[in-house]
Amino acid sequence: MPNPPITLAGKTAIVTGGATLFGASVVGELIAAGAQVVVADIDEDGGTAVADRFDRAVFVHTDITSDESIEQCVAGAVARFGALDILVNLACSYGDDGADTDRATWLRTLDVNLVGAALFSGAARPELARTRGAIVNLSSISAKVAQTGRWTYPASKAAIAQLTRSMAMDYAADGIRVNAVSPGWTWSKIMDELSGGDRAHTDSVAAPFHLLSRVGDPAEVGRVIAFLASDAASFVTGAEWAVDGGYSALGPERAESAIPRLAPVPAS
Ligand SMILES: NC(=O)c1ccc[n+]([C@@H]2O[C@H](COP(=O)([O-])OP(=O)(O)OC[C@H]3O[C@@H](n4cnc5c(N)ncnc54)[C@H](O)[C@@H]3O)[C@@H](O)[C@H]2O)c1
Repeated sequence: MPNPPITLAGKTAIVTGGATLFGASVVGELIAAGAQVVVADIDEDGGTAVADRFDRAVFVHTDITSDESIEQCVAGAVARFGALDILVNLACSYGDDGADTDRATWLRTLDVNLVGAALFSGAARPELARTRGAIVNLSSISAKVAQTGRWTYPASKAAIAQLTRSMAMDYAADGIRVNAVSPGWTWSKIMDELSGGDRAHTDSVAAPFHLLSRVGDPAEVGRVIAFLASDAASFVTGAEWAVDGGYSALGPERAESAIPRLAPVPAS
């Protein structure tokens, strides 16, 4: 068997949601691996700014809740670069009021986080079949744990993990591999905003529930996405890769020594 390097040289990728800190970093990693990237986002200013930072990136205004907009994005990518090899379904909505979430918010979050990814993948399928390409979906640690006040987002991320398996099965005949990454807390726009830009403080909050005692860097997630999209991952499909600094390896005992606490308490 040849030993393919982790390179995306000459490949074309679409990254939905590539306009903010996390997505921009993923775009940067794909470009660093040699790809040319279409940044597909509803955020015109943010998307344009990201595309302007890189030689081999273009912005295409895209609403992944619109079938017409998705079709135009795929067609535009192929018209611009000649083919489509990679789709990264990264766009998301954090709209979530937990138990009080109304129907409109439920439908909006699922439309962006789940249905948009499914239908974008369907629209890209003929082009990806031509190149025997790859899809990488963004799941989350939130897919497998309960988090206070959050219902819609975790449900959407659990659903995308399952969708990854369904898609991997039905697209395998076309030679298209489909995988998901499941990041832990990652330095991103929302973390930046919530912490007032204080990354050290964010790390200290994340430390007890990440074995590596910090949040992840979006580039660390981007590098795993680049690997999964590359021919080096040629036998990987239907998988969910944790990129979570050990979050999912921890149980309720956390990284604390619980068994020694069984020792009888000395009588006082
Ligand atoms: N931030 C984290 O710690 C973390 C952890 C685990 C997983 N994730 C996942 O990583 C991905 C990126 O998260 P983020 O924190 O950067 O989110 P973000 O909100 O900063 O970025 C989401 C992007 O999606 C775009 N978007 C929203 N609706 C869209 C639509 N209809 N059409 C096109 N684009 C649309 C937004 O404009 C934005 O650029 C998400 O899939 C998220 O679930 C994030």
